[in-house]
Amino acid sequence: MKIIGIVGSPRKNGNTDILVNEVLEGAKENGAEVERIFLNDLDFRECQACDGCRVNGNCVLDDDMSSVYRKLIEADGIVLGTPVYFLNVTAQLKKFIDRCRCLFNDRFESKLNGKKGVVVAVCGNPDITMTGSTVSNLMNIMRFSGMDFVGSVEGSAVNKGDIGNSANVMKKARSLGIDMTN
Ligand SMILES: Cc1cc2nc3c(=O)[nH]c(=O)nc-3n(C[C@H](O)[C@H](O)[C@H](O)COP(=O)(O)O)c2cc1C
Repeated sequence: MKIIGIVGSPRKNGNTDILVNEVLEGAKENGAEVERIFLNDLDFRECQACDGCRVNGNCVLDDDMSSVYRKLIEADGIVLGTPVYFLNVTAQLKKFIDRCRCLFNDRFESKLNGKKGVVVAVCGNPDITMTGSTVSNLMNIMRFSGMDFVGSVEGSAVNKGDIGNSANVMKKARSLGIDMTN
C-alpha cells in the first residue's frame, strides 16, 4: 500500500508535521510505502475556476501540483494534516484542496474514491474542541470525495514540536497509521 501524508503547516518539524509523520510511521510499520508532502515547499497557484478541468479532467495549470495529482491518484491512503488557524485549515492546505477540483467530474465522482483517509489537526488552545470545525470540515471533504474516513487525531500545543510530549496523541496517530493500512 502507498500512503501519502500532506502537511499543511509552514513549520517543518512542527506539531502537524510530527503527527502526520507518526501516522505514516504506523503505516510503514504495517508494511506500507509512505511519502510526506510539505505543501509550503511547493510552488503552485490557487484554483482559477477556469473550468478547464471539466473538459478532460486535467488541471490546465502546470506547476508543482502536477506531480502531486499523480501521487494522490496512485495512493491507497491520504493523511491530511493542518494546524488550526482561526478555526480552519491553513491557507496552504486550502489552496491544495481547491486545486483538487480537477479530481472530480460533473457528477461529483472523484478519483479519490475508495482511498483511506486520516485527518490530523493541532490547535494552540488547551481546549481541544478548538479543532472541531477544522476536523469536521476535512472529514466531510473526505466523505464527499468518496474516501473511506478512518479517523482523526487532534492535539493541542503552542510551541513548535511540543506535541511530541503528548504520549496519548502520538500513540493515537501511530495507531491510525496501522488502521488505515489494515
Ligand atoms: C495564524 C495563526 C492562527 C492560529 N489560530 C489558532 C486558533 O484559531 N485556535 C487555536 O487554538 N490555535 C491557533 N493557532 C495556534 C496553532 O494552531 C498552534 O500553534 C499549532 O500547534 C501550530 O501547529 P504547527 O506546529 O504544526 O504549525 C494559530 C496560529 C497561527 C500562526
